[in-house]
Amino acid sequence: MPITTCVFDAYGTLFDVAAAARIAAAEPGRAAFAAKWPQIAADWRAKQLQYTWLRAVSDTHTDFWQVTQDGLDYALEAAGLADPELRERLMALYFELAAFEEVPEMLAQLKNAGMNTAILSNGSPEMLTGAVESAGIGEHLDAVLSVQTTGVFKPHKSVYDLVGQRFNTSPDQVLFVSSNGWDAAYASHYGFQTVWVNRAGEPMDRLPASPQHILADLSGIAKLAGKL
Ligand code: LAC
Repeated sequence: MPITTCVFDAYGTLFDVAAAARIAAAEPGRAAFAAKWPQIAADWRAKQLQYTWLRAVSDTHTDFWQVTQDGLDYALEAAGLADPELRERLMALYFELAAFEEVPEMLAQLKNAGMNTAILSNGSPEMLTGAVESAGIGEHLDAVLSVQTTGVFKPHKSVYDLVGQRFNTSPDQVLFVSSNGWDAAYASHYGFQTVWVNRAGEPMDRLPASPQHILADLSGIAKLAGKL
């Protein structure tokens, strides 16, 4: 079936999650953080995601803002930098993340081609609104879908069901795009056509399904969607 609907993961895919730590590290008075920020950013992201999976399998759901704080607290303590002012600054920066530079043009191309466009994210509605507004991409998006309505995080099937419920599409009419290999893999398993945006050249996750397409960034999405 031709693609009618392009759906994007948010954090790491449209929004640059490393930007929060990168920006804070460049601020005056943060020498200790600047020396360790890449490891802290990596631990923060890894723990945030692990906590979503653990909460999903144990039926202990909470919102993504909470697991984002929990992941940051772990990462700062692991680095010996449990500083409340730094924590508050990093969370504020996470709330207003920038989009990767090719995002506005790519979304405009999809809208010009008549596609539906949406975000499907673990993010809470408030977080997603904050990021969409600060990135200035709301005009190019038909929907911002949050797992909050399902009460469970990705990759639970009920999350991917939100797309068909919103757009009345069958899974094979949807191109799902994620920089998280595991998210793209389970979206393939669900039946979406998928793109893994592999900016860092990481190996493929060993999971029951694999993404059908791999791109280095988002600039080729509209061309690919038009060909499928
Ligand atoms: C999201 C996370 C997985 O936006 O990046 O859903």
